[in-house]
Amino acid sequence: MDPRVRKSKYIPNLKPKYLTLNVLSEIKPKKNPFVFFNFLFKKAIKTEPEPNAATLCTDGPNGRMVLIKSIDKSFYFFTNKHSQKVKELKRKPRASLVFYWPTISVQIRVHGFVSKLPRKICVEYFSLRPLESQLALSLSKQSKVLDSWYDLKNKFQKYIKKIKLVPTPAHWCGYEIKPQKFEFWFGSTERLHRRFLYKKSGRKWYIKELYP
Ligand SMILES: Cc1cc2nc3c(=O)[nH]c(=O)nc-3n(C[C@H](O)[C@H](O)[C@H](O)COP(=O)(O)O)c2cc1C
Repeated sequence: MDPRVRKSKYIPNLKPKYLTLNVLSEIKPKKNPFVFFNFLFKKAIKTEPEPNAATLCTDGPNGRMVLIKSIDKSFYFFTNKHSQKVKELKRKPRASLVFYWPTISVQIRVHGFVSKLPRKICVEYFSLRPLESQLALSLSKQSKVLDSWYDLKNKFQKYIKKIKLVPTPAHWCGYEIKPQKFEFWFGSTERLHRRFLYKKSGRKWYIKELYP
């Protein structure tokens, strides 16, 4: 017998309550997915601790969280150009984002093409960060092996007392995801969830509802 059969223990229903069927019946997807995204994002801001956090998936396959820093007709995030994700994006400039807002029972998946942001935007955004964050980002060799976190911390504490300004490091970069696809998921307690898929063809968005 497969040993997993004997070992299997299931986690009980830890979060059984999503939306009611009444609420789900009233959901009307907007024509434009960005309008729909922003409508839901405004709700999520009121109840979620970090609604702009999303799982970024790149060609690895590899997923990790990033903070989305601009949402208009595309999604921006910032990172270190030596990181694993940047290597993967150079290899294949496509990515997906997954937002999950449990307090309003919403998941949003976004797929799209990725391109590098102009240096000017990266410098501008870096200048808006608190000094501690600028220094930490500047000292980080993201995704490289670190021999001692304590040495890094000592270095940080030594510099933070002295410095007034951190120049934008050469390794600081930003990316833009231009979506071709969105999927909005609304959770129902009865598991009769609702899913709306938006696909772009030319400049138009087409919407289909999917089985949950
Ligand atoms: C809530 C949250 C937000 C994060 N935001 C970012 C971010 O905006 N940029 C970033 O490079 N890493 C961010 N990270 C760290 C990444 O998840 C990841 O550990 C790091 O970027 C290295 O990933 P990589 O080696 O796959 O490139 C965040 C982590 C968490 C938990």
